[in-house]
Amino acid sequence: MIMRTETITALIFVLLFGFVSAVSFSKIQLPRNASGPEALAFELGTGHFFTGVADGRILKYQGPSIGFVDFGFAAPNRSNLTCDGSGTDLASLNPSCGRTFGMALHHQTKCLYVCDAFFGFGVLGPEGGLVTILSTIAEGEPYRLCNSVDVHQPTGNVYFTDASAVYDIRQFETAASVKDSTGRLLKYDVENKQVTVLLRNLTFPGGVAVDEEEEFVLVSEFIGNRIRKIQLQGRNPYESDIVSTRPMPDNIKKAISDGFWIAAQRIDRYTRPSLQPVGERINASGNRTGTVHLQQWYANIIVSEVQEFDSKLYIASPFEDFIGVYEH
Ligand SMILES: *[C@@H]1O[C@H](CO)[C@@H](O)[C@H](O)[C@H]1NC(C)=O
Ligand SMILES: *[C@@H]1O[C@H](CO)[C@@H](O)[C@H](O)[C@H]1NC(C)=O
Ligand SMILES: *[C@@H]1O[C@H](CO)[C@@H](O)[C@H](O)[C@H]1NC(C)=O
Ligand SMILES: *[C@@H]1O[C@H](CO)[C@@H](O)[C@H](O)[C@H]1NC(C)=O
Ligand SMILES: *[C@@H]1O[C@H](CO)[C@@H](O)[C@H](O)[C@H]1NC(C)=O
Ligand SMILES: *[C@@H]1O[C@H](CO)[C@@H](O)[C@H](O)[C@H]1NC(C)=O
Repeated sequence: MIMRTETITALIFVLLFGFVSAVSFSKIQLPRNASGPEALAFELGTGHFFTGVADGRILKYQGPSIGFVDFGFAAPNRSNLTCDGSGTDLASLNPSCGRTFGMALHHQTKCLYVCDAFFGFGVLGPEGGLVTILSTIAEGEPYRLCNSVDVHQPTGNVYFTDASAVYDIRQFETAASVKDSTGRLLKYDVENKQVTVLLRNLTFPGGVAVDEEEEFVLVSEFIGNRIRKIQLQGRNPYESDIVSTRPMPDNIKKAISDGFWIAAQRIDRYTRPSLQPVGERINASGNRTGTVHLQQWYANIIVSEVQEFDSKLYIASPFEDFIGVYEH
């Protein structure tokens, strides 16, 4: 087939233009003295969201004109003077400031369930303030690193993880070097207010998501480099299978239509940098159904959450000072 030059030019233009306009990335900058958003929880309707930052505050984003406001904190004796503006270096986090990681909103009750790395599992009402701690210990073993949370919306039951029974977040490097496998998956039953241990011996469970029917939970093992699917019902409840392996998977969030988004990384030893942050979509069997490459905006900085909201992906990284917004 012979094409005229103009046709080819037009075609190239369409391809280029199509490619350029296909993806857009913008940043929602945190306040000047805040950094390290690890997780996100969206309000339906408003599109406002919550995030926990390195200095122990929980911030609420109230749209472009208001921006972020201080919403809550988990450390009962937190001092604004010493804590506000503290940096993201894990080894030098100050326990008396708190450090909130996972969070999930129960839409019906407007309860924001949170995991604070130093203070445990708790909840905040719509007015914010000091987190009410609901649980710090299960089966005689205190949480060392409450890390991720998800709510089953129809029942209000909450699933959360304690990443380690031995190491707190400041000792992450040691936990990684010994492949610490003392993490647990827990369930908070909202009716009787009891916490039960569903699974032990997890290799740093950094993310959790429950499906809509409460049939299974997905848990990511950040140091174990894999995702497990745990059955909640049926003949062998709490039986688990590894459904996916990938480097450093962190938070898992239900996708809007189907499946889940995981924040993870890829390691390619032939490229510099070798670590490449990605968002990966998986279906309920753990099969990959989509990938979003993020190194263009995050270089080799790890990402901890990729959450779909209003046909965009919102991205959190515990070492950056913004929320990424990806559209295509
Ligand atoms: C907070 O301060 C009070 C009074 O000084 C003290 O009794 C309490 O142990 C402190 N709590 C924490 C978690 O440091
Ligand atoms: C600390 O910051 C919070 C939120 O901005 C504010 O409500 C509170 O009054 C501050 N406390 C002190 C002692 O400055
Ligand atoms: C940090 O920012 C918050 C919100 O903008 C403000 O309330 C607080 O005073 C600031 N703290 C410091 C130490 O700058
Ligand atoms: C699993 O964890 C329990 C306690 O948390 C421990 O006693 C047991 O040895 C662990 N099992 C394995 C296979 O590591
Ligand atoms: C889907 O995932 C399962 C479990 O990890 C695996 O056994 C299967 O081969 C995958 N299927 C495809 C088509 O990749
Ligand atoms: C997930 O995707 C795989 C491969 O396409 C497919 O075989 C499997 O049935 C899917 N699982 C679900 C639950 O959709």
